Amino acid sequence: MEEVISKDAKAKPVWDDGDSKSNTPKPIHAIEHADEIRISCHDNELNRVLGGGIVNGSLVLIGGEPGIGKSTLMLQLAIKLQQKVLYVSGEESEQQIKLRADRITKTPSETTFILSETSIEKVFSQIKQVQPDVLIVDSIQTLASAKIESVPGSVAQVRQCAGELMQYAKTTNTPVFLVGHITKDGSLAGPKVLEHMVDTVLQFEGDRNMVYRILRTTKNRFGSTSELGIYEMQAEGLREVANPSEILISQRDVGVSGVTIGATMEGNRTLLIEIQALVSTAAYGTPQRSSTGFDSRRLNMLLAVLEKRTGLKMGTQDVFLNMAGGIKVDDPAIDLAICVALLSSLHDLSINEKFCFASEIGLGGELRAVNRIENRISEAEKLGFSTIFISKYNKGVDASKYKINIKPFGLLKHVFGELFG
Ligand code: TYD
Ligand code: MG
Repeated sequence: MEEVISKDAKAKPVWDDGDSKSNTPKPIHAIEHADEIRISCHDNELNRVLGGGIVNGSLVLIGGEPGIGKSTLMLQLAIKLQQKVLYVSGEESEQQIKLRADRITKTPSETTFILSETSIEKVFSQIKQVQPDVLIVDSIQTLASAKIESVPGSVAQVRQCAGELMQYAKTTNTPVFLVGHITKDGSLAGPKVLEHMVDTVLQFEGDRNMVYRILRTTKNRFGSTSELGIYEMQAEGLREVANPSEILISQRDVGVSGVTIGATMEGNRTLLIEIQALVSTAAYGTPQRSSTGFDSRRLNMLLAVLEKRTGLKMGTQDVFLNMAGGIKVDDPAIDLAICVALLSSLHDLSINEKFCFASEIGLGGELRAVNRIENRISEAEKLGFSTIFISKYNKGVDASKYKINIKPFGLLKHVFGELFG
């Protein structure tokens, strides 16, 4: 455990000179409904994940691995907002931030203020001067308070600085965004208490080598946690992706074996995702199993089901599986598309590019019902697919409502029979 040494435990936070009115309890009937006013980010994806825009006095944490685009996202927000924004960076110099801003926009906003600083006391004294409408701190791990005698990024410092920023947000009703780094195991660096303190946690994810980025809400006191924002990293910064499916499946070659489309749900959004499988005879002893964007244990389970329930010999094959676009999928409705892709590669027979799939596979090789099947069917229809394979246990699907051909099946082997004869 880290020892916390405070020079003066009773010292007031620096932003509070002691002249603020003290807060008193009120009878509940005397508390008036405050109309929740949302500040628009001028970014549909960010508005969506925040639950409809920025809430005054809210503390929002943006977590993500280094290089994923957190600073870019926050600088874009600072520039787009019509309010006065103070962007505090402890990581980059003002010149570096200016260079980045030049890539993002040709017309820099006059209400964006940049401060390169790591001392929280100095940050607060500048806040008093600037009086920002929105504060952005990049990153919480680079800030340090003189009250704590440990290095920036330590548990004690992160907790102290976040605590002071939270009190600032709540007392002045100013929204505060904190950028937080993520450790290798995917948790936010710094104390868990950081996640408890803030109102909203957004995780910025994606494969750094790919262009797509997903902004996921993992906690939100002001909205749903099943929201998802999608961006594309371009030379001019992050571009909002309004219709992700069109991009995720646009780059495919027709007539290639091992490629299928799965209708998945990510949060509240339907994503049609391309799955690529490669099955080939193992050259040396133990066959390789490799999976990108999909849980490898679940892949092993599906391979076992294929062996046992459809009689395919997968035990001597190398198996590689890839979700296109660097997207991570944990929706079980992708199972059927994966199984079909594996078989397609094994037999080197391509699947009609107008077919798509949405069903979970059970241990008995049966097609299981999935949630929100109607959303998946509609999205597939909208994107011009001719046929969707689903589980016959998805009750209440009115096929006459759709132009797309809906094929319900009960067993994986019957789907294979239909596709490969
Ligand atoms: P950055 O926002 O610095 O990531 P983080 O703050 O999460 O560490 O951006 C990371 C990468 O994005 C960096 O490698 C450069 C790239 N990038 C672009 O491709 N286009 C751009 O317009 C910008 C600003 C960055
Ligand atoms: Mg950064």
